[in-house]
Amino acid sequence: MTTIVTLKDINKLFLKGQIQTHALKDIKIEINEGEFVSISGPSGCGKSTLLSLLGLLDAPTSGTYQLTDINVESLSVDQRSKIRNQYIGYVFQSFNLIDHLTVFENVALPLEHRSEKSSDIKQAVEETLAIVDMQSHIHHKPNQLSGGQQQRVAIARALVGNPKILLVDEPTGNLDSRNGDLVMQELIKLNKQGVTIVMVTHDERYSRMASRQIKIFDGEVLVEHQEAVV
Ligand SMILES: Nc1ncnc2c1ncn2[C@@H]1O[C@H](COP(=O)(O)OP(=O)(O)O)[C@@H](O)[C@H]1O
Ligand SMILES: [Mg+2]
Repeated sequence: MTTIVTLKDINKLFLKGQIQTHALKDIKIEINEGEFVSISGPSGCGKSTLLSLLGLLDAPTSGTYQLTDINVESLSVDQRSKIRNQYIGYVFQSFNLIDHLTVFENVALPLEHRSEKSSDIKQAVEETLAIVDMQSHIHHKPNQLSGGQQQRVAIARALVGNPKILLVDEPTGNLDSRNGDLVMQELIKLNKQGVTIVMVTHDERYSRMASRQIKIFDGEVLVEHQEAVV
């Protein structure tokens, strides 16, 4: 079994004026290839902070993060962004699509950064949009799409570069329950196809759909629950 993520004794402190927040406390987590891990817990418990560390968007105050065989702390700024581009797919709660770009252009962005051939980019974008069933909206702009459709485009953008791990922050947070259910079905389908997923959610109903559930309370891992494999 290949281990994708190894976090050891991760602490994260934020200092804002006089106020110090100990957002993550001695976090130890391993994630293996093919897993679908949910991270749940009440608002403010540290879920998004943890996901942004996993996504190399922020760095811990102490502790080590190994991503496959790479020791993340030893990377230069340039190496970090390269590894982020190649290894990580990140889906933000607010989608973060670029308004003036089309669906095609949004999804192509991670590949443009790799300076791939435009015919290869076109093929990869079309294939990935087909996976999330959005190929018919390829020339639309984000504001012409529903929330659920925008979320699917954001998932396609995260997947197009074939990342080692897909990190998803509150994928259903901005959606009504019908669209939330559709996005969950999409994530479950992707996981069955082999995509390793870490999903942050405060919704118990959705966290139970993952193959392993990590519950966080006040910056600490409270319990881990693994589904029995039948
Ligand atoms: N950039 C920041 N600066 C200061 N405090 C922060 C920052 N980001 C998060 N926090 C604090 O860290 C704690 C965890 O936040 P967060 O990870 O966003 O929680 P969750 O995603 O579980 O709702 C909260 O107390 C929050 O106020
Ligand atoms: Mg959050």
